[in-house]
Amino acid sequence: MSNTAFHLTGKTVLITGASSGIGRQTAIECAAMGAKTILTARNIEKLNSVFKELAGEGHEIILCDLLNANQTSSLVNSISSIDGVVHCAGLVKPFPVSFLSREKIDETLHSNFYTVVELTTALLKAKKINREAAFVFLSSISGQHPHKGGSMYAASKAAVEAFCKTVALEYAAKGIRANCVSPAMVKTPMFDDAVSGMSTQSMEEHVAKYPLGVGYPEDVARAVVFLLSPASRWITGTNLVMDGGLLLAY
Ligand SMILES: NC(=O)c1ccc[n+]([C@@H]2O[C@H](COP(=O)([O-])OP(=O)(O)OC[C@H]3O[C@@H](n4cnc5c(N)ncnc54)[C@H](OP(=O)(O)O)[C@@H]3O)[C@@H](O)[C@H]2O)c1
Repeated sequence: MSNTAFHLTGKTVLITGASSGIGRQTAIECAAMGAKTILTARNIEKLNSVFKELAGEGHEIILCDLLNANQTSSLVNSISSIDGVVHCAGLVKPFPVSFLSREKIDETLHSNFYTVVELTTALLKAKKINREAAFVFLSSISGQHPHKGGSMYAASKAAVEAFCKTVALEYAAKGIRANCVSPAMVKTPMFDDAVSGMSTQSMEEHVAKYPLGVGYPEDVARAVVFLLSPASRWITGTNLVMDGGLLLAY
């Protein structure tokens, strides 16, 4: 693969949320493209099952609850140096605006934004990020196109997008890039959670709005691989919307 820039040979990539959905598939695709991967999440059984699907050698699992500052610090200390970070960990907890409380606000912002900032900052401060490395942050089309009940999710993703652009600006001199990927609905356990609160009819109506249908984890994972690879060396501070054409109709 060395005669193409579309590869991850020789790179080590940390993937949060690697036990499930988009993070799981990103780990599999990164390994298939030649990377050593460091998988992190809380569920060891799920991480072990992802680990077994990885091509190549040298992969690693580091358990970490990103809500726990000590565990995040141990994660950073256990890493020697990396060429890519993919922030996939997150949650979706829908509430109408009138039901929000400080606790509910904190829950989503802590999981989807503070952990992203804290891990990024700790890795950079500890000088664990190699020159020409790439950050990829999982945002969502909700960051720019909110949906009812999704105020805190949308706010957390809009915050991630703003943070990503600043990382891109501050680290460009070291050739370090930062980009977001913003999918619409992707078939993962998070998708199943989201649809469990909808009637079959409203779900079918929503899915019918996607000209190319809803997405699959591999659709997103392959774009993430591109953004980690030398093939995207001139791309930073962007937000790649992946929506199967959904927003064309808006
Ligand atoms: N699926 C979609 O339709 C969709 C659309 C747009 C954007 N996204 C974004 O894409 C990302 C991945 O979503 P997904 O659908 O793949 O979700 P998922 O299948 O529910 O996976 C979420 C992952 O986050 C990890 N996680 C959650 N809280 C954590 C914590 N405190 N510490 C460490 N790990 C934690 C979970 O691991 P453990 O439980 O093992 O800790 C799991 O691996 C999210 O940021 C999501 O907002 C998803």
